[in-house]
Amino acid sequence: MADTTVPYSTGDSKIGETTIGEMRELAARYPEGRSALLPMLHLVQSVEGRITPEGIEACAAVLGLTGAEVSAVATFYTMYKRRPVGDYHVGVCTNTLCAIMGGDLIFERLKEHLDVGNDETTEDGKITLEHLECNAACDYAPVMMVNWEFFDDMTPESATQLVDDLQAGNEVKSPRGATICTWKEAERVLAGFPDGRADEGPTGGKATLAGLRLARERNWTAPAGAQARTTDDSRKED
Ligand code: FES
Repeated sequence: MADTTVPYSTGDSKIGETTIGEMRELAARYPEGRSALLPMLHLVQSVEGRITPEGIEACAAVLGLTGAEVSAVATFYTMYKRRPVGDYHVGVCTNTLCAIMGGDLIFERLKEHLDVGNDETTEDGKITLEHLECNAACDYAPVMMVNWEFFDDMTPESATQLVDDLQAGNEVKSPRGATICTWKEAERVLAGFPDGRADEGPTGGKATLAGLRLARERNWTAPAGAQARTTDDSRKED
């Protein structure tokens, strides 16, 4: 079973001048520099593999915030990790719809197969397993994600094959097109430094677009009464 303690500091932070410069670049993209905090925290994860105390202090120094303020944000969102994440972050949706469609079973199977619990990393450092709440892809339930790329209509067998391929270093593609990179590489993209592969695969899948396709085929449009009224219109009627 993997170690579940939370290391405060690794003592070998990789946050240096290059990262600080990129943090300043991110801050300069916004009218208010502090708006860049979320992408900056992704940048920290892309360098450190997690949110480290050194990363928090660097964000605070660049933005003129306190470490406590940055920490409050970093510990609020589940996408920011206090423990080191493996090469691949594997999420299994166990929210209601995915759970009853097989998500619970997939999560149990993967815990056993990988010999880890929730939010733990395999001994080889390859995979961090986490159960996720709704990924807004319920039409493909049960859904998994690898480094936030979707894997649709999963089964315990396809989930096991997926993690085996990741651990073996085989090339893995999301059914929606994206080639799976490492978690740190994905975090750099989320920080706002594109890798040039944003348009791999379709942006909307078949199931998601089924309603739109039907509406077009049958020439359906929204009824006029459903259109939003302006605030002024509603005031006049009061
Ligand atoms: S319940 Fe799993 S994606 Fe919505």
